[in-house]
Amino acid sequence: MKSSTAIAHPNFALIKYWGKSNVSGNIPAMSSLAITLDSMTSETTVSFPNNLEQDTWMLNGVEQPSLGQIQLPCEHLKKISQIDQPCLIESSNNFPTAAGLASSASGIASLITALDNALGTKLSNQQMIEAAMLGSGSAARSLFSGFVHLEVVQDQLNCATILAAEEWPLNVIVCVTSTKQKTISSRQGMEISRKTSPMYNDWVNNHQEDMELALHAIAAKNFEQLGKIAEQNCLKMHKVMKTSQPPIDYWNPATYTCVETVKDMQRKGMPVFFTIDAGPQVKIICEPDACKDVVSLMEKVPGVQLIIESSLGKGARIIHE
Ligand code: PMV
Repeated sequence: MKSSTAIAHPNFALIKYWGKSNVSGNIPAMSSLAITLDSMTSETTVSFPNNLEQDTWMLNGVEQPSLGQIQLPCEHLKKISQIDQPCLIESSNNFPTAAGLASSASGIASLITALDNALGTKLSNQQMIEAAMLGSGSAARSLFSGFVHLEVVQDQLNCATILAAEEWPLNVIVCVTSTKQKTISSRQGMEISRKTSPMYNDWVNNHQEDMELALHAIAAKNFEQLGKIAEQNCLKMHKVMKTSQPPIDYWNPATYTCVETVKDMQRKGMPVFFTIDAGPQVKIICEPDACKDVVSLMEKVPGVQLIIESSLGKGARIIHE
């Protein structure tokens, strides 16, 4: 056992999952397709101080009351390693936490990467994917770089990079419209939607069509087609949320204004599209040449508190041991 530090980056889904087919195993009811970023980073150090009585999680310097979402992946790896000694997990994010910016995905991916190295478990890719899944349905995607396809076929998982970041350089401009933590977690929200939204079955049954279109658009590097299907898929997911009982609405007035601004840019012929997850932040994907203009237009949108620029980046990796 040794101390080990890993980093991972958030990933944003262009074709989203919303709903679990197997709630106790935390298995998504559908496949998803995402891009992994580079400038936003979660860093996790795992160590085994002698005086520690139980596994302890410090997040952004604050001791957490419980291990929360990281408990199952942690227990899983410790069980495989047969090492029982309590570990100290110190995680930090260089961006707002639990605000719909995929900090749980990058946090969990960095944690299992550090823990695997510290415990010497040397898990295979497939085992890492399964361990990540115990923590969050999107975390496995942050293990991989560039364009990432997480395929779920009858509860079997397969996750891999389908196109490297360098092969199709795109930029992501994250417009943060609120840094408050969300009140309904995605895990809770998905269950509410599965049980109550009249649109949920159609969402699940028609999902593969969206996926096929997106996979074709990526293979052809067709920005317009990818943008069209990504926006449609995102809006469909938010309709499922909004038609749940109680309705789940993550958007705020600035979210709507950001979307309108993107639509305006598209009308002017700019290569941009948006996506929105379980939070009010708007993620804008654009071709690199348009990036500067997009940022200067988004900076003027009332309610945009912070803009984070990123390219596509690498999967989780050890940076220190
Ligand atoms: O598994 P979670 O809790 O990270 O949920 C992810 C939910 C969405 O971000 C809305 C969709 C997705 O596929 O990332």
